[in-house]
Amino acid sequence: MEKRIISGTDLEVSVICYGPMRIAQSQDDPDLPVHLRAMHAAIDHGINFIHSSYEYGVRWMMHEVLKDHPERHNLLHVIKAPVPDWDDPDFDAAKLELIIDDALRDLCTDRIAMVQWMWRCRPHDEEHRLPLLANIHDKVAETFEQLRQKGKVGHLACFPYFPESAATAMAHPAEEALIAYYNPLEMEMSPVIDTLNDDGRGFLAIRPLYEGVLTDRYASHADVPEGHRLAKEKYADAFNARQKLAEAIPEAADGMTRFAIRFPLMSANCASVIVGLNSEEQVVEICDHVAGVTPDPDTVSRVRALMGH
Ligand SMILES: NC(=O)c1ccc[n+]([C@@H]2O[C@H](COP(=O)([O-])OP(=O)(O)OC[C@H]3O[C@@H](n4cnc5c(N)ncnc54)[C@H](OP(=O)(O)O)[C@@H]3O)[C@@H](O)[C@H]2O)c1
Repeated sequence: MEKRIISGTDLEVSVICYGPMRIAQSQDDPDLPVHLRAMHAAIDHGINFIHSSYEYGVRWMMHEVLKDHPERHNLLHVIKAPVPDWDDPDFDAAKLELIIDDALRDLCTDRIAMVQWMWRCRPHDEEHRLPLLANIHDKVAETFEQLRQKGKVGHLACFPYFPESAATAMAHPAEEALIAYYNPLEMEMSPVIDTLNDDGRGFLAIRPLYEGVLTDRYASHADVPEGHRLAKEKYADAFNARQKLAEAIPEAADGMTRFAIRFPLMSANCASVIVGLNSEEQVVEICDHVAGVTPDPDTVSRVRALMGH
């Protein structure tokens, strides 16, 4: 598995980051053995970067895999830390530390390599998010520095949801990397990504396969079997955009899964893609597809132009 440095940090991470959001939440899940094999396979294939959140309800399974895994001290963890959360009145330093402490224990590690900090509020729009950010950002940075001094965390990254939030958040000197949804159908963060590239900072791309739409499994929404999560009406537009991509970009038509997983890595400052891997077969295929990706500004520009970015 190839590795990249997250620009501006000392973290050398595999270009695939294992994302466990859709794995078993309990012992009773009939897919548990498949998911356990997938996580073991991910580590066996050289994935050293693991994304997680207490919100997914899957840390119990991760703990089972990690508690006496021989590689556990070589793994780098990036964890979600939403403080303040939707209904919190303010940033709470103690809450952030508790989230870190829980993750250190559950993931059997001495340090969280990267914290994906996010701030939430209602209504969930720029008008309310930006003033809140202005009020709390220095406090967040100060708290993070204290946690770093304690040895609990390595680097601060931000998941800002929206482009203006992203541009404003990343202007703060404490923010070391951006974490955002980024795939051929979701490129709203492109201007911020370019700015970060210019000043030597990197980003991590979440959901490179658009939750499974950008794969070879189903060419159109009509092909998705009834009852499958992708059959929901909310995915119809994404399948239309998938078709547009396949018609305009020959590499995508030749292999959608391969193209989509490689696409974020064609940007020089993308260190890793955070992808959901739920079976050993998915791990093997995805790891195979990312061999030898090099920066490819021409393809990035073609896709951006096609999708109006
Ligand atoms: N999506 C979000 O809103 C979100 C939010 C916060 C964080 N994250 C993080 O990002 C990670 C990835 O997000 P995501 O899982 O939503 O999106 P994704 O990585 O774009 O899509 C992953 C899905 O694609 C399918 N897949 C994987 N490999 C495949 C292959 N080789 N061939 C065909 N299909 C394949 C799997 O579907 P099946 O297993 O169902 O077949 C898998 O669940 C999460 O695990 C989480 O850590 C996501």
